[in-house]
Amino acid sequence: MAANISPVSRADPAPAQAPRLDVARVRGDFPILGTLVNGQPLVYLDSAASAQEPRQVLRAVETYATESHANVHRGVHALSQAATAAFEGARERVRRFLNARAVREIVFTRGTTEAINLVAQAYARERLGPGEEILITALEHHANIVPWQMVRDRTGCALKVAPMNRRGELLWDEFLKLLGPRTRLVAVAHVSNALGTVLPVKQMVDAAHAAGAVVLVDGAQAVPHTRVDLQALGADFYAFSGHKLYAPTGIGVLYGREELLGAMPPWQGGGDMILSVSFEKTTYNELPYKFEAGTPNISGAVGLAAAMDYVEGLGLEAIAAHEQRLLALATAALERLPYIELVGTAAHKAAVLSFTMTGVHAHDLGTVLDAQGVAVRTGHHCAMPVMTFLGIPATARASFACYNTEDDVARLVAALTRAREVFL
Ligand code: ALA
Repeated sequence: MAANISPVSRADPAPAQAPRLDVARVRGDFPILGTLVNGQPLVYLDSAASAQEPRQVLRAVETYATESHANVHRGVHALSQAATAAFEGARERVRRFLNARAVREIVFTRGTTEAINLVAQAYARERLGPGEEILITALEHHANIVPWQMVRDRTGCALKVAPMNRRGELLWDEFLKLLGPRTRLVAVAHVSNALGTVLPVKQMVDAAHAAGAVVLVDGAQAVPHTRVDLQALGADFYAFSGHKLYAPTGIGVLYGREELLGAMPPWQGGGDMILSVSFEKTTYNELPYKFEAGTPNISGAVGLAAAMDYVEGLGLEAIAAHEQRLLALATAALERLPYIELVGTAAHKAAVLSFTMTGVHAHDLGTVLDAQGVAVRTGHHCAMPVMTFLGIPATARASFACYNTEDDVARLVAALTRAREVFL
């Protein structure tokens, strides 16, 4: 393999034969898209930060709240049993969505960040020590950096970082060089939130396993754009958030291989994670409840299950193909603007277009776009090391979802043209 060229990811989006989305119908499912922002019809290009929720999700959450809500796993009464059925039904829905082996491997969390911290504290901090290493990549966002720094600082292990090139691609040979007998854990993004790079996670998992390391994949930016088959991928841990997948905020998932989760101690104590408690001794519940202390986000789980029904109803392949068309269209359009520089031009990307405007801070640009009804994220995207490597303080980032249109891309281009006039 040529140096510095990443292998093609098996999880690449844009399948050739995907059916076309009926985007007008899709947009009708999202009430918020009818909003006027600063007097202009909203163009929402910030789904990588948080996607909007369709009526199907909003209704599922409302139906749960109006017909079934009570606490779970605690009551013999009818509502508690209905809530428990809804919550555990959602867990089975997640298992099916990811093609995990068992519901025991599906832990509900607040989101990706909590899921990664769970693994850092209950797995890595318990096992790693001086002379051992955690390997991440230069593309990670803070939630897949800081928890490992905390582990490093508590255990004396080392934290290694596999570099990338200026296109935002992992340097594959460097990654392989850093992977060795000391590597105990590899933690990598499936898709970079700041640049949109799709990482070759299947090859990374295989290489890490061959080196004897356990692998965590941060799937926050991948799950809305590509089908994830955990049995095919073989990752030991996989984390994602509901709210980037058209579900409510405050719900996410940690998948963990049963053998690993089973051997890990609980990380938070309280209700639901116990079997029995006395002042002398507590015995812990079975998987996955051992990792779910306290009353969980039941309505969030119901909303997440509805969101999975929704995207599978549209077809993940159709969504991915649609987003790839928009990404290609927007990339070509922005390349024609001489005052715009694209940031992150990897060969394999998903749904994210980061850019800067010559001589203009991204926050100022974002404000002028917002005045025209165009919502993009601006800043370091919780990935400051990515910005530092590229030598820029910030970018503007447009991100695409199932409800975006070619007209949204045209509105972005028009808003950038207008912004240029403002800043000249
Ligand atoms: N990680 C989220 C983003 O990329 C918040 O915007």
